[in-house]
Amino acid sequence: MNLIDSHCHLDDAQFANDLEQVIQRAADAGVRAILTAGTNVASSRAAIALADKYAMVYAAVGIHPQDAQTCNDKTLNDIRALAQEKKVLAIGEIGLDFYWKENAPRAIQEKNFVAHLDLAAELDKPVVIHDRDAHDPVMEILRRRNGKPRGILHCFSGDLAMAREAIELGYFISFGGSVTFQNARGAQEIARALPLEKIAIETDAPYLAPHPERGKRNEPAHVARVAEKIAALKELTPAVVAEKTRANSISLFGFGARA
Ligand code: NI
Repeated sequence: MNLIDSHCHLDDAQFANDLEQVIQRAADAGVRAILTAGTNVASSRAAIALADKYAMVYAAVGIHPQDAQTCNDKTLNDIRALAQEKKVLAIGEIGLDFYWKENAPRAIQEKNFVAHLDLAAELDKPVVIHDRDAHDPVMEILRRRNGKPRGILHCFSGDLAMAREAIELGYFISFGGSVTFQNARGAQEIARALPLEKIAIETDAPYLAPHPERGKRNEPAHVARVAEKIAALKELTPAVVAEKTRANSISLFGFGARA
């Protein structure tokens, strides 16, 4: 299988001691490229440093909704500058998170999200969108965008109608480990119903390890479990799902010749 992990956080402290082996296990599992997403200026810088160090790693830069309080003219300019670096493929992760809204009030999150969407449009980069308990407000903001949006709704948690509307607007839908959980009937039905041409896969490592690793630290090698689950749901082979989702990620993000 040739896979792409379209979303994870390799700069997380949980990888501090064995990242070398984590990357090697991913390569051994057939992972050809990994997109590691920043969550604020410092973690975006760390993501770029990892992309510089490892050939298969690429970066997204941006300020996560939980860090929206740190978004101001200065930090947005930092993100703008970081986005010019060679292996930065996207602006992200950005979006709205009303589960953790005590970290940043709704108005501040919305301002941060829109500012990053504007930046992505200005730089002609795709966006990586996080949506937790904020489906309607996310869609309201995306509906209002002009031009040709390019991006992905990562770890998709909305319903089928939302997924279809997002695809209509120009976005890909990404599934992670949670689609493998035994109680994830909703996400599984959505994955079954959507065209494979619009699906990407990810780990969101170190979070959301797929079944049967649920609860442990996640890592990019486990993206194979997500491919297998989607293949089972769609009655396809894992190799076909791996190949198509990889091609989808390449068409959205670019990635280098090795991916
Ligand atoms: Ni993430």
